[in-house]
Amino acid sequence: MTSSQTEPVIQVLSLVKEYNGKRVLSDISFELYPRERVAIIGPSGGGKSTLLACMIGAAIPEEGEIQLLGETLRPRDRKAMDRLRLRFGVMFQGGALFSSMSIQENVALPIRRHSDLAEETIKILVAMKLNQVGLFAASDRSPEELSGGMIKRAALARAMALDPALLFIDEPSAGLDPIAVAEIDDLLLKQAETHDVAMVVVTHDMTSAYRIANRMIMLYKGRILFDGSPREIQECEDPVVQQFIHGRKDGPISFQESSLDFGKLLLEGE
Ligand SMILES: Nc1ncnc2c1ncn2[C@@H]1O[C@H](COP(=O)(O)OP(=O)(O)OP(=O)(O)O)[C@@H](O)[C@H]1O
Ligand SMILES: [Mg+2]
Repeated sequence: MTSSQTEPVIQVLSLVKEYNGKRVLSDISFELYPRERVAIIGPSGGGKSTLLACMIGAAIPEEGEIQLLGETLRPRDRKAMDRLRLRFGVMFQGGALFSSMSIQENVALPIRRHSDLAEETIKILVAMKLNQVGLFAASDRSPEELSGGMIKRAALARAMALDPALLFIDEPSAGLDPIAVAEIDDLLLKQAETHDVAMVVVTHDMTSAYRIANRMIMLYKGRILFDGSPREIQECEDPVVQQFIHGRKDGPISFQESSLDFGKLLLEGE
């Protein structure tokens, strides 16, 4: 998949991230190339969300460097970030749509903000984006009037509004039923194919990861434990990798680590 002739869309070099002196990412290095769709997987607390936050400039690493689409990421430089932000899309877990705006206004927002296209043109563009995710009929609805799966689709349409070369996706299957998950996965694949967009998908869901990704990076205790193809991960003999991909209760990953999310869920539900 990797090739020396094409430029990487992402380069992460020796990344270190700490929270209050505690190291949560250690020496993370990898490159992502056009047409790659990587699933970032691994047990809870392994550093997946932190890595994603660093890659979109929402968290600042202690050491190392990140390049997106050939530009060095400078999270403290607002202007540079604004410019770079036009070139990659982010589909947030909860959608992060503005509830006071209709779906079409949400999708139009980045186009309005970052182009001087005529209103008529924006309308057509937005209609095309919504049509691609099967939401054209829901254009005038507000986010509150949508199901979880529809919210994800609207978030995808917005993330793709400016035709980015790179898309970051946080937990696309969280909170969805298996059919809605399959639909979102299909849409992501379709976007990847028709728009030639490279993807980084953080996910807990191995079924979804196998469907979407052509590369897997497994994080464990802040380090890359595995980086390879979906077939290679199935053949990997590392007991931690095996336990995780098969969702086994017994193995080197402790109950506490793998149940962290459940704990969070219980707390949030109170
Ligand atoms: N804002 C923060 N402040 C302090 N510690 C944090 C913060 N965010 C994450 N951590 C810690 O960093 C480590 C990695 O967390 P992270 O959320 O990146 O893991 P994750 O792989 O995304 O887990 P999950 O699967 O539960 O989402 C954990 O030990 C977590 O407690
Ligand atoms: Mg996370």
